[in-house]
Amino acid sequence: MRGKHIVIGVTGGIAAYKAVYLVRRLQESGAEVRVTMTEAATRFVGGNTFAALTRHDVPIHIFPENPSGISTNWTQHIHWAEWADMMVIAPCTANSLAKIVHGFSDSMLTTTVLAARCPVLICPTMDGEMYKAPSTRYNLNKAEDLGYHLLTPDHGYLASGMKGVGRLPEIDVIIDRMIQILEVAPSKRSSIEKISPTLREVLSDKKILVTCGPTREYLDPVRFLSNPSTGKMGMAMAAAAAAHGAEVTLLHSDSVSTTALAPSIRKLAFTTTEDLFRQVKSHADSDIIVMTAAVSDFRPVETHTHKVKKDKADLNIALERNPDILKWLGEHRRSGQVLIGFAMETSDLLKQAREKRVRKGADWIVANDLGSEGSGFAFDTNKVLLVGSHSENHFEGTKYDVSSNILHHIFVP
Ligand code: CTP
Repeated sequence: MRGKHIVIGVTGGIAAYKAVYLVRRLQESGAEVRVTMTEAATRFVGGNTFAALTRHDVPIHIFPENPSGISTNWTQHIHWAEWADMMVIAPCTANSLAKIVHGFSDSMLTTTVLAARCPVLICPTMDGEMYKAPSTRYNLNKAEDLGYHLLTPDHGYLASGMKGVGRLPEIDVIIDRMIQILEVAPSKRSSIEKISPTLREVLSDKKILVTCGPTREYLDPVRFLSNPSTGKMGMAMAAAAAAHGAEVTLLHSDSVSTTALAPSIRKLAFTTTEDLFRQVKSHADSDIIVMTAAVSDFRPVETHTHKVKKDKADLNIALERNPDILKWLGEHRRSGQVLIGFAMETSDLLKQAREKRVRKGADWIVANDLGSEGSGFAFDTNKVLLVGSHSENHFEGTKYDVSSNILHHIFVP
């Protein structure tokens, strides 16, 4: 979370006190935190507590409580919304959820949510029956449709003394989810315009297939051949394409969690290369295909249905070749289709990428140098070389920004 700007919105529930710990933990992990709270939240925890911790005002109302009535501070919600890399509403009461979903802007908190261009994580927290109420279910579904991220509340003892679903999850769980979301979300302070209207125009009627994460080739039910891919780059490509209006289908490794991605992205899981190949074939008519998946080139000739005991194991594993999916796509492409492949190399990046592009019949290859700092598996940033038939360009930044830049370069030349 180092250097991230986080706005926490605290609403009026008993769990409001837990937001104090959330602020502290985020600060310890290097984030800069500001807090806005609703009037009701002040009945559970004092605004001075947050002000002291964040060394910042804790606004409640949109209009500053300045007796003279003359202040330029009344646009504070816009400044906060622009400043934030992420907003987290924790706890979020049924009342605040309803207001957010229906676009109310009657407090600093709801107005800032309305003005925010960054991801917003809502942590619904309420009594079990209120959580199950039809209107809350409706608002939760609506919140997802509108692109808000939701954290499912925990089950356990509630303030009412009853047991049920509605508790604010542990701080670690909230922060883990925030990290997941930020990995694939646009950063607010990057070099290019976040949503490019021209790119949106080009992509808005396009079907895009993105693949991400590692394939797994099982030797037996507990062992497999795979690689360290985390799927982050593919998820960032899917997020950037969806943000620009494309209809995105993401084929993701079943080892990769996609909960941070917008609900509008269709997500289908794969395990093995054969499995991925089958699914790619059934989407082979897409307008654009982005093969970010880290595909195993080999699979064991034999897969055991029961766990192989170590004293019975053969120490040699016979392998056979997997199909080359991108090459197949290059040979079976429909006219006008754009094929984008990836390449991870440890030497001769440019030469390898140029050869790979031609060999696979791809239009573009996004090449990664595994030896370069801040790029490759598991990092949130990337440094890539985009190799086309007539151009070679270098991009670096967060995986989301690199993805936006790649799409921009290819489709708005
Ligand atoms: N790829 C694929 N099917 C495979 C292997 C790779 O579709 N069996 C795709 C990857 O998704 C990626 C591109 O091909 O978009 C390049 O993958 P990479 O592993 O770098 O290349 P390989 O074909 O495995 O070539 P080499 O191992 O010789 O570098």
